Amino acid sequence: MLRPWEMQFWLESSPGQTLHAKLLNKLTSDIKEGRLSPGTLLPGTRSLAKQQGINRKTVQQVYEELEAQGWVTTLRGSGTYISETLPEQKLTKPHEQLVNSTDKTKPASKLMSGLYQDARVPAPIANDGTPDIRLIPYELLARAYRRVCLHLSQHLNLGYGDPKGTHELRNAVTKMLKEDRFMNCSVEEVCILRGSQMGIYLASRILDPRKGAIIMEELCYLPAKAAFEANGFEILLCKMDKHGLDISHLQEILGNNAVAAIYVTPHHQYPTTVCLPMDRRLALLKLSKSFQFVVLEDDYDHEFHYGSNPVPPLASLPDAENVVHVGSMSKVFAPGLRLGYMAADRAFIERAAQEIVIIDRQGNSLSELVLSDLMESGEVKRHIRRTKRQYASRRDFTAKEFARVFGSKVSFEIPSGGMAIWVDISKLTKGKSLESFQNENSALITLFSTEQISPTHLRFGFGAIDENEITRSIELLFQVLNQ
Ligand SMILES: Cc1ncc(COP(=O)(O)O)c(C=O)c1O
Repeated sequence: MLRPWEMQFWLESSPGQTLHAKLLNKLTSDIKEGRLSPGTLLPGTRSLAKQQGINRKTVQQVYEELEAQGWVTTLRGSGTYISETLPEQKLTKPHEQLVNSTDKTKPASKLMSGLYQDARVPAPIANDGTPDIRLIPYELLARAYRRVCLHLSQHLNLGYGDPKGTHELRNAVTKMLKEDRFMNCSVEEVCILRGSQMGIYLASRILDPRKGAIIMEELCYLPAKAAFEANGFEILLCKMDKHGLDISHLQEILGNNAVAAIYVTPHHQYPTTVCLPMDRRLALLKLSKSFQFVVLEDDYDHEFHYGSNPVPPLASLPDAENVVHVGSMSKVFAPGLRLGYMAADRAFIERAAQEIVIIDRQGNSLSELVLSDLMESGEVKRHIRRTKRQYASRRDFTAKEFARVFGSKVSFEIPSGGMAIWVDISKLTKGKSLESFQNENSALITLFSTEQISPTHLRFGFGAIDENEITRSIELLFQVLNQ
């Protein structure tokens, strides 16, 4: 069998101990402490003897003794394995010595540790609006990876590159932003990221908390809030109404505070899904010029807008000089692809690249080249067109099912885009706490807005589920909410 790694052992020099005793003690302690876990294949006697510069007979005797004590099992023709059932019940806790016992680390905020906790559990089928990973064109991706790898092997260029990303993908993204998103930017004004979250984090590193606070909407994307908090920003919350950001409250905040930036999701507001009307977009941009603050525009799922007229992003409108625009391929293909981009003025992009050098050096050139290949050949556009039809039909079906199952007990607007629907459940929750809806379907809890003490709305993601799953999830929700 081909071993993934050559297993290394470091025999301490303890005077007076024979090589036999040293090796026996080392192997026994590695098993007890968990470095060698049950089922692990030990090196062959010949190779371990060579590695340690000792006699093969010594290794054979040690293995025999370990077997006699029940620590290992030898399978003829296969090798010596750590026993599946170890002789001692009271084994030392594994990896104990890897735990940092100093008190020199910074604690995570409550929000940050909560987000991490949620990120570790696999997303429930009904979530807050992720794409359906069953729709990923795996064959298409596999063919593109093969094509790009062959090309790279001929041109020998998979070394360190530009921290801003490969020229090919920056070029393809620039073209897409110009043709599809009305923007007028150059390749120098575009930088490739691992996803829009990275763009938000970079912005929170580049902006200076001493120059002012960050404005966010009352209900907003919590990982963005966590990033700004982690980098020392004060967060000021701006009111919203049914059309999104409340411009007069924004003016009031700006009149009373020093503000460095505002974070917004104007295309499909997170979590309410509302598309910010044009008059408010223009007013926001005017204010950003007169009060000189940055507008961080998170355009995380613009590809899935179902109305006939596309809505231009803030970055494409007049007075957009202070806009930093971030976008992502997470919804188009898959979150696991980890590809996104930032478009901003050259100086901001250069600062972002300086930050990238000290966290990641650069992106994943191979995946970047695959994506640019698929963008240039029109396959990305085709995939978007195909999946958009499916998501639009799931949105309509979701609306129908909510109306059928809940009747007038809930209300909602059909969203003009995105992968989630924002449902008013206040008639059912009537001041009850979030915890009172906790039951064996606790996955459903992720559907509620956790901003209020008593949930008034839920964000139901329809993107990742088919019609049967939509019906099942909505009927389940009805059982949970109608108690
Ligand atoms: C509003 C918003 N911004 C950013 C992100 C992060 O996306 P990415 O995978 O591109 O980092 C998400 C993910 O769902 C999102 O909903």
